[in-house]
Amino acid sequence: MDHSAHFAMTPPAPPRSKLPAVGTTIFTVMSALAVEHDAVNLGQGFPDFACDPALVDAVTTAMQAGHNQYAPMPGVALLRERIAAKVETLYGKRYDPVTEVTVTAGATQAIITAILALVHPGDEVIVIEPVYDSYVPSILLAGGVPVAVGMRPPAAAGDNFTVPWDVVEAAVTPKTRLVIVNTPHNPTGAVFHAADLLALEALVTRHGLYLLSDEVYEHMIYDGARHESVARYPALAERSVIVSSFGKTYHVTGWKVAYAIAPAALTHEFRKVHQFNVFTVNTPMQHALAAYMADPGPYLGLAAFYQAKRDYFLRGLEKTRFVPIPSAGTYFQLVRYSAIDTAEGPLGEADFCKWLTRHAKVAAIPVSAFYDRPRESGVVRFCFAKKESTLDRALERLALL
Ligand SMILES: Cc1ncc(COP(=O)(O)O)c(C=O)c1O
Repeated sequence: MDHSAHFAMTPPAPPRSKLPAVGTTIFTVMSALAVEHDAVNLGQGFPDFACDPALVDAVTTAMQAGHNQYAPMPGVALLRERIAAKVETLYGKRYDPVTEVTVTAGATQAIITAILALVHPGDEVIVIEPVYDSYVPSILLAGGVPVAVGMRPPAAAGDNFTVPWDVVEAAVTPKTRLVIVNTPHNPTGAVFHAADLLALEALVTRHGLYLLSDEVYEHMIYDGARHESVARYPALAERSVIVSSFGKTYHVTGWKVAYAIAPAALTHEFRKVHQFNVFTVNTPMQHALAAYMADPGPYLGLAAFYQAKRDYFLRGLEKTRFVPIPSAGTYFQLVRYSAIDTAEGPLGEADFCKWLTRHAKVAAIPVSAFYDRPRESGVVRFCFAKKESTLDRALERLALL
């Protein structure tokens, strides 16, 4: 029977976007432009070299041993135990692997899961700009209200961006629920010092706030500095979810395996969300990571490995007109570009990056992309997690400008 003759067809209304302001990001635009112009891509933050073959072998071993079905919801037990042991050795705080450590599908899933677990509609969440791009959409999806506080740009040569904690405190209202911080910091390469943690501790304890600490670059910290993990500060740790990522630490960003550590009461709520937005993370990779973590050498050696790359890149930059802002952590290097003559007059960061991709065939990322309302600081971000040959090709081109 032909029903269409009797019932008017009602097409669904176009979806009412939950993220109306989210469009194609500058990251996608720059990557497409890099491909179009055959540019050396120092824009995207990922290594262009292989991970340790032993890690790949460990995945094969895990698969051949039959670890191919669902892992336990919070993660493979041995991996959680190794994570807890690492955190205790490095930062002096014991997290219970059974009730306080959860393996996640990348830091991205850990971040949105923590936000969905802690933020209720109407709650305000303080983020520090320039801000990693997943935080604000995650807050919006939770019905929260992002409140951005800008970092202070470097005052003098040799300085990096800093967090004005007095301005952060002034942004707290009775509706504030959560503060999100990131150290070492993407995109600036700034790292927190003990004074930052103490200021943060005073602030969140005074106002009864939760903290989400994004520490995915914890092992990339240079010049002998120590990583100021929130785990080192008991009054902070008791109200915090801390996130780190194996993708960054072991050069396997495509694996998307990370973890969240938090006191049992917070982890309890975290896992309620986790079990329904991912349930469990792929099993053979978890077994491989657990086996690989038995040797602390690879993560303990990461700082020296990347510091050598940073210094190599900096030596090359000396032959260019770019002026670096010191990078104390991460695999990112900010540079000022005002001395480059584009013949198009002074360009904003996004336009400069497009110009650079077309004219020098090197892709970078504008720092303005990390602000809700674009703000120009006259700096762009390069990623130095690249083979020397890749850095050489980029530096040769940059030296011509
Ligand atoms: C600051 C920061 N947080 C989180 C992530 C996401 O990490 P993952 O790839 O493990 O999801 C990144 C990746 O670039 C990052 O830079």
